[in-house]
Amino acid sequence: MDIIESPAAMHTWRRGRSGTVGLVPTMGYLHEGHLALARRSLAENDETVVSIFVNPTQFGPDEDLERYPRDEERDLRLLRELGVRAVYLPTPNAIYPPGFETYVEPGDTAAPLEGSARPGHFRGVLTVVLKLFNAVQPRRAYFGRKDAQQLRVIRRMTADLDLDIEIVPCPIVRESDGLAMSSRNVYLSQEERAAATVLGKALHEAADAFAAGERDAGALQKQIRARIEAEPLAHIEYVSVADDLSLDEIDGQIESRALASLAVRFGSTRLIDNVELG
Ligand code: PAJ
Repeated sequence: MDIIESPAAMHTWRRGRSGTVGLVPTMGYLHEGHLALARRSLAENDETVVSIFVNPTQFGPDEDLERYPRDEERDLRLLRELGVRAVYLPTPNAIYPPGFETYVEPGDTAAPLEGSARPGHFRGVLTVVLKLFNAVQPRRAYFGRKDAQQLRVIRRMTADLDLDIEIVPCPIVRESDGLAMSSRNVYLSQEERAAATVLGKALHEAADAFAAGERDAGALQKQIRARIEAEPLAHIEYVSVADDLSLDEIDGQIESRALASLAVRFGSTRLIDNVELG
């Protein structure tokens, strides 16, 4: 397995490949959600590059950059076992050398939800994703629906900046009790881990209500909120029922597709989850 540690080394590696390249961007501490993206890329491309980079510019000053879980040895072993032959593992200095000053400015899609809860987050995400795209020059790039707003913001950037890259969305992978897999789940205490199953349940029930004909966005939002508020360890940051594309909050009836999404804290751990309605 090739381990490539800088944009220049990545360019050299890339010049040696003529087939299609799939890229799977990650921040490491890999779980089944990440591995599902890598499997899909392996099936659809001649070459797959998985990147592992805990991107400092997408973390706020009071967030968990320093304690973000890392296990490089295990990550590399999992990728080797999967049959991945190239891992892009740059150092922060290789991505943001002294003098670095150019960023991608996100638009309206990045403003609500995660964008409003985490100022500057999507500016950091888009900047690093564009840099990964430029280093790897993939034909396709794989992103999980777990980060629903991130997926939409990246699609917007790809269209707006004329990138010739297919953005491939992949389904949310969940634990058997419905908790969406996340590198941050390791922060949860045993009690919090048990309580966190309420998120998957609340969203699942909202999807059931939608399937049974409920179209009142406010009613669905209230239903999700009430279900989560009944769990004492859960502290809601937001619960949203928004237009599936613009992510504008829906006031009234859902006409076609909507995204129900939430951010909820359990102790100091912040979890996000969502379900697409329609
Ligand atoms: P990270 O949180 O490591 O996630 C990497 C990719 O895995 C993202 O596309 C995310 O949506 C996907 N993913 C995470 N959990 C998932 C799950 N349970 N099911 C399906 N897909 C899942 O997202 C990032 O890193 C970063 O913001 C990044 C795009 C790498 C830029 O730094």
